[in-house]
Amino acid sequence: MSVDVTETVALELDDIQSGALHERPTPYVGTYLLLRIDDRAAGAELVRRLHGIVDSGRTSADPAYGAWITAAFTYRGFEALGVPQKSLDSFAPEFRQGMAARAAEIGDVGESSPANWEQPLGTGDVHVAVAALSSSQEGLEAAAEQAQQARAELSGVELIWRQDCYQLPTGRTSFGFKDGIGQPAVEGSGLPPTNPQERPLKAGEIVLGYPDETGELPPMPMPDLLGRNGTYVVFRKLHTKVAAYRQYLRAKAASREAEAFLGAKMVGRWQSGAPLAVAPEVDDPELGADPLRNNDFLYGDDPRGLKCPVGSHARRANPRDAFDADGSVDVRLHRMIRRGTSYGPMLPEGVLEDDGADRGIIFVFAGTHLKRQFEFVKTQWLNDGIFIGAPNEKDPMVGRNDGTGTFTIPQRPIRRRLQELPPFVVTRGGEYFFAPGLRALRWLAELDT
Ligand code: HEM
Repeated sequence: MSVDVTETVALELDDIQSGALHERPTPYVGTYLLLRIDDRAAGAELVRRLHGIVDSGRTSADPAYGAWITAAFTYRGFEALGVPQKSLDSFAPEFRQGMAARAAEIGDVGESSPANWEQPLGTGDVHVAVAALSSSQEGLEAAAEQAQQARAELSGVELIWRQDCYQLPTGRTSFGFKDGIGQPAVEGSGLPPTNPQERPLKAGEIVLGYPDETGELPPMPMPDLLGRNGTYVVFRKLHTKVAAYRQYLRAKAASREAEAFLGAKMVGRWQSGAPLAVAPEVDDPELGADPLRNNDFLYGDDPRGLKCPVGSHARRANPRDAFDADGSVDVRLHRMIRRGTSYGPMLPEGVLEDDGADRGIIFVFAGTHLKRQFEFVKTQWLNDGIFIGAPNEKDPMVGRNDGTGTFTIPQRPIRRRLQELPPFVVTRGGEYFFAPGLRALRWLAELDT
């Protein structure tokens, strides 16, 4: 009997933490707690308690379930728990270095450099992250209380940071755009693809212990028990300069409609979420709100970017089939799961003056390859223009622009070029984490005994 190798792989959903594979509810409220472990035995007890409350990929799929909790560790956190050196050495080099040490590499310079980050991000004090999420405030409070209880009376574990976040019912974040739409489907997750024109990704791109798109098992931390069913997590607090962004559009556009159009060209989607690839001329809010249609597109019929600029944020971040012609880049090796969310109050619509409030995105990535997924997209696709034939252009919305940047909007008869792009996003800090599977959590809890 021949074996169909394209057959969906069986994922150990009971062992995988919920965050990577399952969509969060809309709307939701959440909180991130960061902890420092000062005492190894207290750390082990913390992990033992967390093991009892984190949710697996199976429970979070249940819509009746009110809240869920996930937990992840930095390299320093694993050190503090007493993970043996041989095992520590087996993690991805970028994870071992930590995000702050990767700052120059990934473009966190100037205002975004670790010297300006919010403490304790990037200091080495961050050992454990616990995220609690719920579709209701009561659910969140209950989950956050459970998470807080996990460290109750543990004198060797300190709560060092807390960040609340939320997702609006519209799914829109601070610049006004619906976010979180473009996600890869993952084989074996049980969730249908949102883009029927794309094959689901091999599970090993998102969860360790399964073959990835290369057909190989991705490098896995040792022992197997610690690595299997784990995933790397990128956590970034990104401040958004919403007033500056609105002022820029106002200065470049002759009308409110023209502002919305320019904004859409920069993102690749209208604020409603409708993709330019499908709705190139006017917004189509019904399309934007329809999960069965708002990610169902490719770019192959628009090689010059007349509908969706090749330099727009979403097209840079996932060029889909745009590279198929010469096959020089395999887009499927650079996909990621994103679990972004908002923090801080929204700037009321129409306001162009900065009110001084801190607002933005908590960007969360999940995947098995920090370097070829998150870091590659950040450096090669968002902060560089070589791959689209515009070496001097960066992502117009989230790229590291400095007031001299440009953004090309292909159109007939002549293209338009926006000049003097300022930075609209500043990194407030971040960390690379590893979210182990549930059996691995138990292994970590028993390390010290
Ligand atoms: C404050 C910073 C950011 C903002 C406001 C932002 C906003 C958006 C918006 C509005 C979309 C379109 C809606 C969607 O498809 O979900 C999008 C898509 C996307 N963004 Fe970002 N983003 C930010 C940073 C980043 C970063 C740092 C990365 C990766 C390193 C990234 C990767 C992506 C990806 C992969 C997509 C989906 C593209 C697709 O599949 O079509 N974003 N983002």
